This record gives sequence, C-alpha cells and structure tokens, in this order.
Amino acid sequence: RIAYVNGRYVAHAGACVHVEDRGYQFADGVYEVCEVARGHIIDMTGHLDRLERSLRELSMAWPVRRAALEIVIGEVVRRNRVTDGLVYVQVTRGVASRDFLFPANTRPSLVVIAKKADPAVNAKRAETGIKVITVPENRWERVDIKTVGLLPNVLAKQRAKEAGAQEAWFVDVDGNVKEGGSSNAWIVTKDGRLVTRPADEGILRGITRTTLFDVAEKLGLTVEERHFSVAEAKAAREAFITSATTVVMPVVAIDGAPVANGHPGSVALSLRAAFFDVAE
Ligand code: PDD
Repeated sequence: RIAYVNGRYVAHAGACVHVEDRGYQFADGVYEVCEVARGHIIDMTGHLDRLERSLRELSMAWPVRRAALEIVIGEVVRRNRVTDGLVYVQVTRGVASRDFLFPANTRPSLVVIAKKADPAVNAKRAETGIKVITVPENRWERVDIKTVGLLPNVLAKQRAKEAGAQEAWFVDVDGNVKEGGSSNAWIVTKDGRLVTRPADEGILRGITRTTLFDVAEKLGLTVEERHFSVAEAKAAREAFITSATTVVMPVVAIDGAPVANGHPGSVALSLRAAFFDVAE
C-alpha cells in the first residue's frame, strides 16, 4: 500500500508525520473521508468544498492548491488499485514546537490514505440493518467543522459496540437526535416523509446527506428538515443513517427497542439502491 505524506508517495507501512505535528498534540486539523465506488470517487467536489470550509473556519491554509489535491487523491486511489473503498484526507496546522498559539511560518501537513473495502460487506449489513444506542451530546459546539478531534465520537461508538450496537446517536438537552458518531440520522414517518435534523443546528453537514435530498426527490419522497426526538424515532416507520462509509444503512433498533418490525425498511433500501444513480 502507498500513502501520500507531504509531497511524497511512500510505503504505507512506514508512512509517518513528526511527533510535534499539531494534529497529534492538539487535534489541530481537519479531514475528509470519500467513498470510492466502481473506480469513481463519489462527491469529490462536495468533500473538497467542505474541506475548504473547515480550513477557513480554523484559519488554516490549503496545504497544496485544491486542483493539486484532487490529483493527489486520484493518484493515491489509483496507486492502491482501490476500485471500491475509501480515501482519507487529513490536513493539520503542521509541525511546530509545542505551543497553543498558531505557529508562524509553519506549513500544513497533508496526508492521503486509501483503503479497499468489499462492497458486499456493506450490502450484506444493509440486509439486516444496524442497531444504535443514544448518548447525551458532549461534543463542542463547532461540530460543523470536520476536525480530527473525535474523542467523544470514539467513546460513544465504543459504548455502542459494547452494547451490541454499531452506531451511537448524540441527543441534545431537549431529547432530540442530533447525529451519529460518524453519520447523519434520519427517520421515515408513518406517512412516508423523510425527516432529518437541519444541517446548521449542531451537526455536520454530511455530503451523503446532501446527495440524499436529490435521491429522495428522484423517488418522489418528501424531506423535512426538522428536529425529531428519540421517542419519535423509536415509534417511526423506519430509521436509517447516512455517511460516506455506509451510504444509506437501515437502523432496526434504538436503545434495544425494535424500529417497526425490526427489519430494514423499504424506503431506506430504495434510497440505498438509487443512491449511485444520483451521486456524482
Ligand atoms: N464521518 N456526522 C459525523 C459526526 C461524521 O463524522 C460523518 C462522517 C457524517 C456523515 O458525513 P458524510 O456523509 O459526508 O460522510 C456525519 C466519516 C465517514 C468518518 O469520520 O469516518
């Protein structure tokens, strides 16, 4: 395997950044995960637009020009012969002697890694669906920035695993579902409407989420962007999550209680089936 690290394509096994990288010391960095399907990088424009925004919000510079980064991402995917899988892009504020303040004259660090994934594994998982648990929101307010500061997400997802579930949904103080540890959360109401929390209300604006609006439209489904509570989700006709790693994944249980009959819903499965006809 090959990784890209600061201008070089190197063996993945020995790929490294300096011990005083600010990503390592302060989680002072941002990232993107793009899905690769049938040799194509899905929604690259959307991911790079969001990366640009994350960088801007943290007053970080592009490590290389955007057009160059696009080429690097394509190269890493190609050199690793990834036709189905993921590409991970991380930018940190760079290497500097440890100090909280932004360093002067430090170049950002850029790492790009690609990984193969068997699409049959996700497809199989979609046939049974996943279970989620709910956890109180304990992240900072700027989760709209895709930073590598993911400790609350790590702890929440670990808790989910220990409870026999595959994702944890963060819940706000009003009892409303925000999003998953690494995905956006959706429900389908009894009358067949899709509901997902507004993207500017304390969640990450998922790229898959945005594309799903178009998929829904194509299928003639209505999407409501509004808050929904854990109770509403438990009583919903269907629930599902979206992310670059899972695309559309049915949720069949919430906190141990089955959603509807405890099997993946037809709306989620139709959205999943139609996704790649719409995604760019
Ligand atoms: N996570 N919300 C959170 C907190 C996320 O970390 C992610 C993605 C999403 C979905 O965004 P998108 O559709 O753009 O993947 C929502 C990635 C996959 C990860 O950290 O691995």
